[in-house]
Amino acid sequence: MKITPDASLLPYNTFGINAMADYLIEYNSVAELQDFLKSEPVISNRILHIGSGSNLLFLNDFKGVVLHSLINSITKVNETSGSVLLEAGSGVIWDDLVAYCVENGLGGIENLSLIPGEVGAAAVQNIGAYGVEVQDLIRTIKTIETASGLEREFSTAECRYAYRESVFKSSLKGKYIITSVIFELQKQPEFKLNYLHLEKEVIKNGEVNLKNIRQTIIAIRESKLPDPKTAGNAGSFFMNPVVSKEKFRTLQSEFPQMPHYYISEAEEKIPAGWLIDQCSWKGKSIGNAGVHDKQALVLVNRGGATGSEIVHLAEQIQHSVKERFGIGLQPEVNYI
Ligand code: EPU
Repeated sequence: MKITPDASLLPYNTFGINAMADYLIEYNSVAELQDFLKSEPVISNRILHIGSGSNLLFLNDFKGVVLHSLINSITKVNETSGSVLLEAGSGVIWDDLVAYCVENGLGGIENLSLIPGEVGAAAVQNIGAYGVEVQDLIRTIKTIETASGLEREFSTAECRYAYRESVFKSSLKGKYIITSVIFELQKQPEFKLNYLHLEKEVIKNGEVNLKNIRQTIIAIRESKLPDPKTAGNAGSFFMNPVVSKEKFRTLQSEFPQMPHYYISEAEEKIPAGWLIDQCSWKGKSIGNAGVHDKQALVLVNRGGATGSEIVHLAEQIQHSVKERFGIGLQPEVNYI
């Protein structure tokens, strides 16, 4: 366990914002977390639980306690003829879990390769990529109630998952701390390759198997998304907006080349990156905040940006997209 007063959060947010916290507390086990929750400084301060800070934007210093899990074990808890249940601690680096599964021939998770972050935050955020969302793999979530320190398990249904949404981001925000997640992985996985040109890319690189799918996805991500070590960022800054069929048809008649994904009979999803790109924001900057030149959905810290500078750029982009397409973009990144 580690308690750091007046901690710099610079190593704890991929946007590279130099915010401070009154205390940073890192714990190694459920028992340690329970002890912290009963003692100072936790009981008399505001709490913010973070993962590796890959989806956060600090607008100010954080007055209170920042908690971070270092629970990083991966354990097999059950096995049947078709699948394996793995329990991963909330502090496990997400991509380490994906790599572990692929190395052990366990599938279902490979499309989520190289997503930054840790297991706990992945379950809060319902991370997703290339046609897979983490909710598809989650069976049980183990938590500690912040107020009482008591254990509670959530089934997948109780998490009320939707696109980048869960009960831990909405009605139960801050009320439960995820300590581990149980995932079901398949021994003979059915590969999901129908996202845009994914299948073509995989075949170009070799055989259709777990390792090659993982390598292909890593290569696609590396070609589009900036490495936070060289340009601070938090992946997609906005969510892809979902619009009514009526709105979609009006837009499509004006922009026939507009990409879109079917959601239901009533709705379609439009890539926010395309909308922002159409408004000519790609590669542009305001002060130290910029729009990535290979993927317009990613805002970057060009060096020394403050949280407010990034938000200012985000607001200008929201304004342009609203003017041109009549669509309000919602941030996927959490403002703190
Ligand atoms: N596009 C443009 N210009 C751009 C960016 C995108 O025209 O600057 C077009 C692309 O050509 C493509 C479409 O928009 O037709 C979609 O682009 P892409 O495949 O890059 O995916 P996305 O919708 O922008 C989403 C997720 C990503 C995830 C990818 C792959 C959200 C908010 N983002 O991005 O997730 O990796 O799909 O599945 O849903 C994240 O959440 O941080 C993230 C990176």
